[in-house]
Amino acid sequence: MFLARRSAQAEYFDAPERTASELAEHYVWLNRVNRVTRFDRPFRMWIPRLLPESDCRDLTVLDVGAGDGELGRTLSAWARQQGWSWKFTDLDLSPHACGLNPNPRATVGSATALPFPDRSFDVVVATTMTHHLPEEADVVAHFREAARVARRLVLVCDMQRSAWFLGALGLFLWLHRVPREFREDGLLSVRRGWRVEEWQRMAAAAGLKQARVWSEHGTRVLLSVEKKT
Ligand SMILES: C[S@@+](CC[C@H](N)C(=O)[O-])C[C@H]1O[C@@H](n2cnc3c(N)ncnc32)[C@H](O)[C@@H]1O
Repeated sequence: MFLARRSAQAEYFDAPERTASELAEHYVWLNRVNRVTRFDRPFRMWIPRLLPESDCRDLTVLDVGAGDGELGRTLSAWARQQGWSWKFTDLDLSPHACGLNPNPRATVGSATALPFPDRSFDVVVATTMTHHLPEEADVVAHFREAARVARRLVLVCDMQRSAWFLGALGLFLWLHRVPREFREDGLLSVRRGWRVEEWQRMAAAAGLKQARVWSEHGTRVLLSVEKKT
């Protein structure tokens, strides 16, 4: 069946030989697409649903695979409009991405071995990152590490591997005239994505009995882990 197995092909922009200026251009395009697709919406919607409002007023948040830090900038500006303070620490494997990030708490590191003590952040988030991990064992480590450094909540969101999403994204990227390498990586991201039952299996392997995994619009897969204080 089409897309029954996830692609193991590496993404163009993940290659270590990509230069800082190539990656800067990549994040300009990613941020444009992120704005149009409202990539911050699942976090604006679910964090206040999963945490009491009193907790939302003042949060420390770790964004894993943060790229140039656009999610943190977008969500902290939105939180300010609610009268809340959300302070982001951004982590990314790519030193070039961290170099583009104006957040003074941008840190180079891997999702699979987070360089922070247990329960360092109220909330741990990740978006459009998990499909970059090569193997299921890496995703298990990513989920386990996110839960280890979170005090209250983990919320992970990524693209879902689905034929209709692949077609819709292809049309969207073509209509927006995005550069070829970016378009090819975007489509490959969907082919590298995981499905709900696959994340459920990996969350169980990470020992996260309280994890919830669900799909939204057939395009996104989400995982939440609520932790007791
Ligand atoms: C598609 S970008 C998404 C960036 C950002 N989350 C966003 O949505 O704008 C994926 C990011 O994950 C990072 N990444 C890939 N593997 C990683 C790992 N093992 N640990 C941390 N970051 C990783 C890449 O360097 C890249 O910046």
